[in-house]
Amino acid sequence: MASILKENDDIILAEAYLYKDGALLYHAAFNSEEILLESNNEKKLKKTLVVKAIHNVLKKHYNVEPDYGILTGVRVIKILITAKNNSKSDDEINRILKDTYEIKNDKIKLLWEILKIESKYISAEQNTKNYNLYVSIPFCPSKCSYCSFTSFVNTKEDKINVYLKSLIYEIEKTIELALKKDMNLNTVYIGGGTPSVLNEAQIDLIFSSISKYYDLTKIKEVTFEAGRPDTLSREKLECLKRNNVSRISINPQTMNEKTLNLIGRSHTIDDVIQKYKLSKEIGFAINMDVILGLTGEDESDVRNTITEIVKLKPENITVHSLSYKKKSELMRETQEMSKDYDLMAKMHEIVNEKCQSSGYAPYYMYRQKNIKGNSENIGFTLPDRECIYNMIIIEELETILACGLGASSKILQDKVRHEPVRNFKSLEEYNSRIHEIINKKIELL
Ligand SMILES: C[S@@+](CC[C@H](N)C(=O)[O-])C[C@H]1O[C@@H](n2cnc3c(N)ncnc32)[C@H](O)[C@@H]1O
Repeated sequence: MASILKENDDIILAEAYLYKDGALLYHAAFNSEEILLESNNEKKLKKTLVVKAIHNVLKKHYNVEPDYGILTGVRVIKILITAKNNSKSDDEINRILKDTYEIKNDKIKLLWEILKIESKYISAEQNTKNYNLYVSIPFCPSKCSYCSFTSFVNTKEDKINVYLKSLIYEIEKTIELALKKDMNLNTVYIGGGTPSVLNEAQIDLIFSSISKYYDLTKIKEVTFEAGRPDTLSREKLECLKRNNVSRISINPQTMNEKTLNLIGRSHTIDDVIQKYKLSKEIGFAINMDVILGLTGEDESDVRNTITEIVKLKPENITVHSLSYKKKSELMRETQEMSKDYDLMAKMHEIVNEKCQSSGYAPYYMYRQKNIKGNSENIGFTLPDRECIYNMIIIEELETILACGLGASSKILQDKVRHEPVRNFKSLEEYNSRIHEIINKKIELL
């Protein structure tokens, strides 16, 4: 990777990534809110012109038309939200999206469709007294080849129990702090890793640390990432139900058996279907994660994946584009990096058409660095079944108090500013230095 041009040390105007096949993907980079918010600022305007000039040269030279033009930020919808909060008209916003950022028309349409769904939550939900509790369970049954999340594989039960002791201490201290500040718990999200590697006693322990303070039947959304079907049993699902979990994720990533082996997942497609049916029988809203652009997959594989998933009718489908993570096995072992703009665009088109014609609508989206085809991740939902937590975290609508290894809190200081608190990423540090994180939370709250 090379930075073509830097302004100061911290703002990179353009970056180029050289791929294995010799092709170059570039980003003409922006902090996405800058132009809309400060379009009269001369320095920012100059920067815009420089980035656009680089963009135009690279676009012609490499013969690519990135869907999102010069934009590289993660939170695209937030640009629209911020602009609207700053009284920009829809026409004005459209002009900037099209002419300044050079976003393609079908993507602009997608952004407005998403904003339409999010809008009902933005006005109704945004509340500086609300908070959302995230709990991190950084353990997995095996590592997926594309993954770089902090997660430990095949961890012994006693080591997990030591972690849970610190985690429960952090959860209780965090909730006590929120209660002291008169904050209201809006949603709960237990994520990972793969939280469903925990046994029933461990799951009960986590939920009892929350239900000590709150009646979870009154919390509008309690999500538990049960990612891998091979970690689920009737007993475990009933335990989640008893603990008032309302929404779980069962993630196939793909519905093609040949790919599951390649990406290091130790379950079959049949496991996905059986555990899905069992979970529905017990009574959960279900999300299913898929990834487009997985090694060896083409349009027909993606068509098969989305057709099979839509047949199951989960409430939510989260469609990721493969993102190349430096620390993943995929990058370490194969150095695979392919741009595939056209293929990714077609895959998204197939998924979009199938979802929309089956009653799903896009309800949140975000982008990542090194994302295949320079595309995006999109969450689809059946009507009125959106995951509130996902919209809150992506659009930074409310405070997130996160507990556990690698978890990241975001504490809203007012409607615009928020302060991050990042937790330790090693088990040893997490277990021995948790009080430092709690002190940081006290300071910021
Ligand atoms: C935090 S991960 C948890 C996954 C869960 N442990 C499982 O095995 O299903 C959440 C989701 O992020 C997506 N994801 C993770 N790494 C990715 C990558 N490199 N590119 C695209 N999507 C990725 C996957 O779809 C995954 O289900």
